[in-house]
Amino acid sequence: MTLLGLAIAVHLLAVVWWIGGLAFVTLVFLPALSADCADDPHALLSAIERRFAPQARIAILLSGLSGGYLLWALGAWPRLTMLHFWWVDAMMGYWLLFFVMLFIVEPSGLLQRSLLVNRNPARAWQRFHRLHAVLLGLGVVIIAAAAAGSHGF
Ligand code: HEM
Repeated sequence: MTLLGLAIAVHLLAVVWWIGGLAFVTLVFLPALSADCADDPHALLSAIERRFAPQARIAILLSGLSGGYLLWALGAWPRLTMLHFWWVDAMMGYWLLFFVMLFIVEPSGLLQRSLLVNRNPARAWQRFHRLHAVLLGLGVVIIAAAAAGSHGF
């Protein structure tokens, strides 16, 4: 396997791990919590998050490093300014958003506090779930566009 092949494999595996986890949380775990399947939803959410967040952080670092290498190895920097390759900018924007959320916002405890302190917990919970759904939707569109675009379709 060439270094380029290895970088593509790492890039895709990292994306699958990260967005797959996001899909599970959004489509399975959060709906189960909303349906009152747990005595203490906040405690369960924290327990799951404590386990998944470090994995997502590693996946984000690996996808960023492998993506940066791919950009360099393919000489693809000029694509950043080409409308036709919008999905390259979208990948990087999406990556940056998650980097900020998982490396800055989440460790600061801001998200959890806004859930716990909110005067209307049901509404805060709904917003939290909707945020995950929007992020998942964006991720799915970007993955589809990048997979098709990088193979010339
Ligand atoms: C710093 C962030 C990122 C950079 C610099 C980056 C860069 C790249 C580059 C240069 C390619 C190869 C394009 C080609 O073969 O023509 C690629 C492929 C791809 N990227 Fe990213 N990427 C990043 C983040 C992401 C994210 C966050 C996702 C998913 C949400 C993603 C999904 C994909 C997919 C699905 C492919 C197609 C691989 C294939 O089918 O061969 N990337 N990326």
